[in-house]
Amino acid sequence: LCAYCPTGGIIPPDAVLVYDVLLLDIWHPDDKVQIRTLSKPESCNRTTVASDFIRYHYNGTLLSGQAFDSSYSRNSTYDTYLGQGDLIKGMDEGLLGMCVGERRVIIVPPFLAYGESGHGTKVPPQATLVFEVLLADVFNPKDDLIVHVKEVPETCTRRTATGDYIRYHYNGTFQDGTAFDSSYQRNSTYNTYIGMGYVIQGMDKALHGLCMGEKRRIIIPPHMAYGENGVGKIIPGSAVLVFDIHVIDFHNPKDPVEIKITHKPQQCDLTSEADDLIQYRYNCSLMDGTLLYSSDQYDSPSTTTLGTNSVILGLEEGLSGMCVGERREVIIPPHWAHGENGAAGVPKSAVLFFELELVDLQKGVPQGYMFVWLGDGPDPLFPAMDLNGDKKVPLEEFSDFIMLQVKEGKGRLRPGVDTDSIIKDMFNNQDVNKDGKIVEEELKPASEEPQQASKDEL
Ligand SMILES: *[C@@H]1O[C@H](CO)[C@@H](O)[C@H](O)[C@H]1NC(C)=O
Ligand SMILES: *[C@@H]1O[C@H](CO)[C@@H](O)[C@H](O)[C@H]1NC(C)=O
Ligand SMILES: *[C@@H]1O[C@H](CO)[C@@H](O)[C@H](O)[C@H]1NC(C)=O
Ligand SMILES: *[C@@H]1O[C@H](CO)[C@@H](O)[C@H](O)[C@H]1NC(C)=O
Ligand SMILES: *[C@@H]1O[C@H](CO)[C@@H](O)[C@H](O)[C@H]1NC(C)=O
Ligand SMILES: *[C@@H]1O[C@H](CO)[C@@H](O)[C@H](O)[C@H]1NC(C)=O
Repeated sequence: LCAYCPTGGIIPPDAVLVYDVLLLDIWHPDDKVQIRTLSKPESCNRTTVASDFIRYHYNGTLLSGQAFDSSYSRNSTYDTYLGQGDLIKGMDEGLLGMCVGERRVIIVPPFLAYGESGHGTKVPPQATLVFEVLLADVFNPKDDLIVHVKEVPETCTRRTATGDYIRYHYNGTFQDGTAFDSSYQRNSTYNTYIGMGYVIQGMDKALHGLCMGEKRRIIIPPHMAYGENGVGKIIPGSAVLVFDIHVIDFHNPKDPVEIKITHKPQQCDLTSEADDLIQYRYNCSLMDGTLLYSSDQYDSPSTTTLGTNSVILGLEEGLSGMCVGERREVIIPPHWAHGENGAAGVPKSAVLFFELELVDLQKGVPQGYMFVWLGDGPDPLFPAMDLNGDKKVPLEEFSDFIMLQVKEGKGRLRPGVDTDSIIKDMFNNQDVNKDGKIVEEELKPASEEPQQASKDEL
């Protein structure tokens, strides 16, 4: 009756035997793999199929509750192809149809596990195995990039192409939602050229055809990302990467300054050009709408003389050819703005958006000049200048003469500078012997004469 019971004098005849039994395992040849889902994420875009590559965590126990193995003891997921005989039969079956983030208990009878021989020291022969698993990642070697467009701005006149330089923010996570990197942490966009191999293959591909302001989710299988090796402790081998990106701006190094006239007054004869003194109002923003600077911060509009490198090149161009009252929207790529280094408050390689309005325009004179004739000027000059004909021209007379030319539209003084002091300087240049009056002999030859005065003299 009891093949294993100790005998040999220990058990007396006619003894009643009392057994204390602990059932360790039980199975039946008709048993199947039992699957019980413990939890499942709300959204599940794909479920595992045979030939997928999966990464999962597990705790393995015997039916008795005795643990025999766990992925956590190796600090790493268990990574394998599914449904190709790499796993014990019961697991190849039990792991099918799972979502990333799903937890399951899979109970495998011994004939679908390690059978009569057991496995190592921990799995005895004929043992039923209980696996509690958590699927961390799945992809198929045939997978291509998956792109979900999440938000496209209403106006999108242009989309990214190879050779463009893009600035974008991103959150990088694994499929189970664990974050591995984010540009926001660094308070700075990620910047790169597109289609030139500077970023992982999948991202390089996914960055094409984007609009400014667009948001996308990009799911990149490992063969288009960091492959079987991953990256140090940050990205495990064979990991699928999920990037949520937000495009801030992009430009091509060949881009010109883009000018859109939003309002042009009916009367528009006089337009701004180099040397003119102008007053303008502006708003300067990034392409995502972040306002950087505005003339509204100050009591009065900004003032500049065009052609003197006092504003960035793109703004100089944007402010040229405008008439008073005209409004413009100007897009300035970084090579016409603050370039790769940026400036105070302006990020590196940022495209800038300006709203401009010309408020005032005073025609100017070339650099180094204080006064120019708008026609040929009187010839001979001295008699014209000597208004009362007394053969000498003191400062007052000289000043009256110059102001008369300005009034009659025959000459122009440098705008934005004190008129009296310019005229005084001009007078002193001509009054060679410094006796307070100009006589005919003192007047320089017409070509160099009072209209001109070199920069260092003034
Ligand atoms: C799942 O699919 C939806 C719609 O297709 C998409 O918006 C979402 O980003 C996807 N999620 C993941 C993790 O792939
Ligand atoms: C797993 O990580 C823990 C804590 O970081 C460490 O103590 C342990 O040695 C690691 N185990 C293995 C097998 O790497
Ligand atoms: C495995 O066991 C550990 C420790 O009890 C637990 O934290 C972990 O969630 C378990 N993993 C699975 C996949 O059940
Ligand atoms: C990013 O900006 C925040 C808030 O201004 C600051 O607390 C944080 O230290 C910055 N991080 C880096 C990496 O500069
Ligand atoms: C990245 O995550 C932060 C914090 O959750 C969020 O505010 C931001 O919108 C996310 N960015 C993208 C591009 O999804
Ligand atoms: C700048 O923005 C303010 C607020 O939107 C607006 O009132 C103003 O007209 C803008 N300035 C220019 C020059 O467009």
